[in-house]
Amino acid sequence: MQECYIKDFPDKIDQEIIIKGWVANRRSSGKLSFLILRDGTGICQVIVEKALFPDTYSEIKKLPLESSVIIQGRVVKEDRAQGGFEVHASHVQIVHVSDEFPIGKKEHGPDFLLKNRHLWLRTPRQIAIMRIRDALIRHIRTYFYTNDFTLIDSPILTTTCGEDTSSLFSIDYFDLGKAYLSQTGQLYLEAAISGLGKVYCFGPTFRAERSKTRRHLTEFWMIEGEMAFYDHKQNLDLQEDFVSYIVQNTIRDKAQELAVLERDLAPLKKIEAPFNRISYDEALDILHKNGSNIEWGSDLGGDDETVITRLFDKPVFIESYPKKTKAFYMKQDPARPECVLCADLLAPEGYGEIIGGSQREDNLDILMQSITDNGLDPERYDWYLDLRRYGSVPHSGFGLGLERTLTWICGLTHLRETIPFPRMIYRAYP
Ligand code: 4AD
Ligand code: MG
Repeated sequence: MQECYIKDFPDKIDQEIIIKGWVANRRSSGKLSFLILRDGTGICQVIVEKALFPDTYSEIKKLPLESSVIIQGRVVKEDRAQGGFEVHASHVQIVHVSDEFPIGKKEHGPDFLLKNRHLWLRTPRQIAIMRIRDALIRHIRTYFYTNDFTLIDSPILTTTCGEDTSSLFSIDYFDLGKAYLSQTGQLYLEAAISGLGKVYCFGPTFRAERSKTRRHLTEFWMIEGEMAFYDHKQNLDLQEDFVSYIVQNTIRDKAQELAVLERDLAPLKKIEAPFNRISYDEALDILHKNGSNIEWGSDLGGDDETVITRLFDKPVFIESYPKKTKAFYMKQDPARPECVLCADLLAPEGYGEIIGGSQREDNLDILMQSITDNGLDPERYDWYLDLRRYGSVPHSGFGLGLERTLTWICGLTHLRETIPFPRMIYRAYP
């Protein structure tokens, strides 16, 4: 007798096997009971014949959903069954009789589902999303690996703020005062490029975001690349190549899971470099023509991004933002000092920003000025300023939000389903 997984059934036809899993669904018709079993690798139908189970049939027939079982039986090819196979049971061991599962066929509101996230995770849509997430992460890592980037794990506890001081989570760090949960690994990547050339990090990042939107988490995963001797344009070329690669590979790999989500793949198949590039000024023109009265110098909001991305069927870079809307480290445009050499990449179909990136300020004096102008304490940045004292080079990088990218690929309306246990302003349970 061989223990196996449902995914291995094509090699097990007509063999007697053992599988272990959960009852995802069931129905019975007099002499037969059909259990839909989920084992973590797939779904199959198990047929339990009343005549073979005189003592236990009545219990099996009424097994509550999500009960766990071990089934022994024969694998039979059956094109009409979900997955193409069924198991004719010869032995059923009930491991645990489940309490009544709170998530059923009826519609549940998001609050209920999020409160029950630990249980919601085992339902078909959520399983599909987690598998797509896994594949996306794998392709991201492969891209960096095959393009000669070295992984640098940046710290989560930091004493230097990388982005906006208003969204820092701070903690008391022994006798050293305040430390923060990392908002970005970028500053540390900038240190690593001088030894390693092209580097990346991929880890959880934290923002005490007060915004309660469909695009904001307080804990999310970010992939950041940093490249020595790359200018702004080379940075964008790399980003569009990277995004095309991860989208095409993920949708090819996970077509089945995307079908569970009823994602239309046609718009995603078009995601190929080159992407569109417009300036911040052009973006403002578009918004003004669409009835907005946004003023030069304001950052674009989520709704503004939605308006712009609906006009393009590929991602669009918005370049050259006003310096005052962006982080202190971005390189001032020598031709236009009120702007910085940066771009946000907006995903189409209304999804909005998935990448923020820029060339970095490599001039010590301008950077120092920028740090003080932003009200930051230069002492905490002394190590970072050293990078402009010892072999400073032009360099650039970017950060891609994993959950925003996944929300787009999966075609979801809210990013909360793309992370196993979402953390948002009003939610840290379970
Ligand atoms: O634009 P951001 O803030 O850029 C940085 O952190 C840079 N240091 C990156 C770099 O150049 N190395 O964030 C990058 C991306 C955003 O485009 C977005 O996709 C995602 O991170 N992001 C969030 N995702 C979910 N919830 C939030 N609160 C997010 N904030 C940013
Ligand atoms: Mg940004």
